[in-house]
Amino acid sequence: MRKIASVHARQILDSRGSPTVEVDLVLDDRRNGRAAVPSGASTGSREAVELRDGDEERYGGKGVTKAVANVNGPIASRLVAEPVEDQAALDVLLRELDGTEDKSRLGANAILGVSLAFARAVAASEREPLYRSLGGPGATLLPVPMFNVLNGGVHADNSVDPQEFMIAPCGAPSFSEALRMGAETYGALKSVLKRRGYATSVGDEGGFAPNVRSNEEAIEVVVEAISKAGFRAGDDVVIALDPAASEFFEDGAYVFKKSDESRRTPAEMVAFWERWVDRYPIACIEDGVAENDDAGWKLITQRLGARVQLVGDDNFVTDPALIRAAAADGIANAALVKPNQIGTLTETLAAIAEAKKAGYGTVISHRSGETADDFIADLAVATSAGQIKTGAPCRGERLAKYNRLLRIEEELGSRSRYAGRAPFSRGPTRR
Ligand code: PGA
Ligand code: ZN
Repeated sequence: MRKIASVHARQILDSRGSPTVEVDLVLDDRRNGRAAVPSGASTGSREAVELRDGDEERYGGKGVTKAVANVNGPIASRLVAEPVEDQAALDVLLRELDGTEDKSRLGANAILGVSLAFARAVAASEREPLYRSLGGPGATLLPVPMFNVLNGGVHADNSVDPQEFMIAPCGAPSFSEALRMGAETYGALKSVLKRRGYATSVGDEGGFAPNVRSNEEAIEVVVEAISKAGFRAGDDVVIALDPAASEFFEDGAYVFKKSDESRRTPAEMVAFWERWVDRYPIACIEDGVAENDDAGWKLITQRLGARVQLVGDDNFVTDPALIRAAAADGIANAALVKPNQIGTLTETLAAIAEAKKAGYGTVISHRSGETADDFIADLAVATSAGQIKTGAPCRGERLAKYNRLLRIEEELGSRSRYAGRAPFSRGPTRR
């Protein structure tokens, strides 16, 4: 049994300067936990509801004072009144208190902040690091980082349609070496872009946001940067894409609005990615088709599922039931995991378990609007997820997670293992 002494939330700002919720939770043994909630831009339509004030006079309507008041009012009074058994019991209590399917009454941002702060307080109470408190002594697997080095879509004001061009140093011997390879490739990409006369300003997730001439040029500069940094593209370092295709799917067609206005049917969209997989060292595609394009998802899985990892994000929204249903339908072969899409830690863990049960890969993920909170780094190790994506090796809120993983690897010492090529066994070198 855990007795909660106090719960207090406040409004802080995220990496886009938008308000978000931070929660401090203290147990009666005075151990405490703090957590901050991230926020997406290319959200799935079935995500749990992020409660915003809607008062246009303040932060353009994006304030979260109602969510904060829900923590400091009804949630706090309920939680300090009765002891809870564990995380699962706390999360059930929070869901009951909210009473809606989509957490829209109290707000998923209010609920998740409390859920994560509780997990941290429990770890502190156990005097264990968070990854071990959540994952037990077997939590020793460091994830492959997927660095988002070139930003497009709704994360950047440029000419690039796919939202994320990521590099995954799966050939590294350890996480710290993967981080070095990622940072060196990122540096090489900066010089490639400069030489071509492009700006090296960055997008929301720290990747460069150049106005390249075509989407092809965007992937070509990334491939060039990998070899310029001295690594073998498709072997040491593979490419992962998140086109976030829901963002450019309109009336049944995929439209590359930011580059050349080209339109594609779902079948043509899948054929387009197939050509890219043929031409470039791509090992992973997330949301290559839109969340509500079930036929497109089935087709892309049939055409590419044996060659690349296909990650569901907008269509799965970290919902165990949606992942189970998709697996039964032959949709995707991996799941993205974003705690704020579902709103509690227990349901996030259930989504990971559901994905693993289906034999799906798991990628723990940040949001484009982030804080310095590094919870997802511990979550990736706790669940042996094998992969994490948390932006470029640039911008403090992204590095917070990668640097936390460095510290975890150091702490585990010889017990640590690196996920390496296993998550990408369908990828380019094994073809
Ligand atoms: P978001 O983007 O955080 O803006 O939703 C991340 C993603 O689509 O994976
Ligand atoms: Zn995505």
